[in-house]
Amino acid sequence: MKRLIKLFLIFITLGVISGCNETPEIGLLMDTVELERWVKDRDFFVQKVEELGGTVTVKVADSDADVQFQQALEMINRGVDALVIIPVDMVVSEGIVKMAKRQDIPVISYDRLIRNSEIDFYVSTDNIYIGEQQADFLTKAQPTGNYVLIGGPTSDYNSYQLLLGWKNILQPLIEKGDIKLLGDLFLDSWSADKAYEMMNKILEGGAEINAVLAGNDALAGGAIKALDEHNMTSNVLVAGQDADIAAIQNIILGKQTITVYKPIESLAFSAATAAMDMAKGKDLSGNMTCTVNNGHRLIPSVLLQGQVVNKDNIRMTVISEGFVEEQEIY
Ligand code: GAL
Repeated sequence: MKRLIKLFLIFITLGVISGCNETPEIGLLMDTVELERWVKDRDFFVQKVEELGGTVTVKVADSDADVQFQQALEMINRGVDALVIIPVDMVVSEGIVKMAKRQDIPVISYDRLIRNSEIDFYVSTDNIYIGEQQADFLTKAQPTGNYVLIGGPTSDYNSYQLLLGWKNILQPLIEKGDIKLLGDLFLDSWSADKAYEMMNKILEGGAEINAVLAGNDALAGGAIKALDEHNMTSNVLVAGQDADIAAIQNIILGKQTITVYKPIESLAFSAATAAMDMAKGKDLSGNMTCTVNNGHRLIPSVLLQGQVVNKDNIRMTVISEGFVEEQEIY
């Protein structure tokens, strides 16, 4: 009996020691690092978690939802202290959240909302408002004519939010008959090639195009490639998002009208701080700036604002905030 008690005490002591000295491990599940902005999200996030005394295990699913599910399973079974998810597929990721919650692992939905699930926190930009910013800028410059909408995949809830923002601005002008929608599509991935093919089809149909609203700069770039081949870039307005270097260069060349710059460092900072607080069992009420209804309940959230970037404010925005270097663009 004495031996059993001794063994039990050793386990407790080890448990307590490991509990005190343990460095929180945060799991970061990413869709892709193919697009510039996600490399920045990853690097800023890791840097901030490490500054706060944690470690980050990053897994990239290369846009394969099944791979992301397996990567999540491995992290959950290993018992990460918090999980931060950039969901490849918003429905599959509901299953990931269920698994994590069964093991009492707190979950943050990052950039893309995971609906109908028990996520603990949501960090993103106000994507409906970003859609409105894009549409507002273009309709002020081009209040009439034919518009093409190139949305991202329906597996990404942001695609719906952007479309809602676009329609909030466009609908009154459509009702008046001032604006007509030519393409109004969700592509099945954030792919420049898919946007190029879609735009080519519309152009080969001979339609006049006055403006393009694209879900991100990759899609905008694909559309611009098709417009370029038809010598139409000079008279078609194009809006994108993410402030990719190629997009900013296209803005300078007059081929793209605007992009929207997201404060990626602040996004990653908010998510890293919340993840570390959750890993330590802290209450998150101090981290949140609002709540968002994810279809299941109100989620404590941080929603930051995008900033429109056009040819006149590049230096005052993305360069002055150190998002891109001057020599990368000019
Ligand atoms: C979306 C995001 C866009 C863009 C896109 C590319 O979720 O809202 O800004 O980054 O992903 O992956």
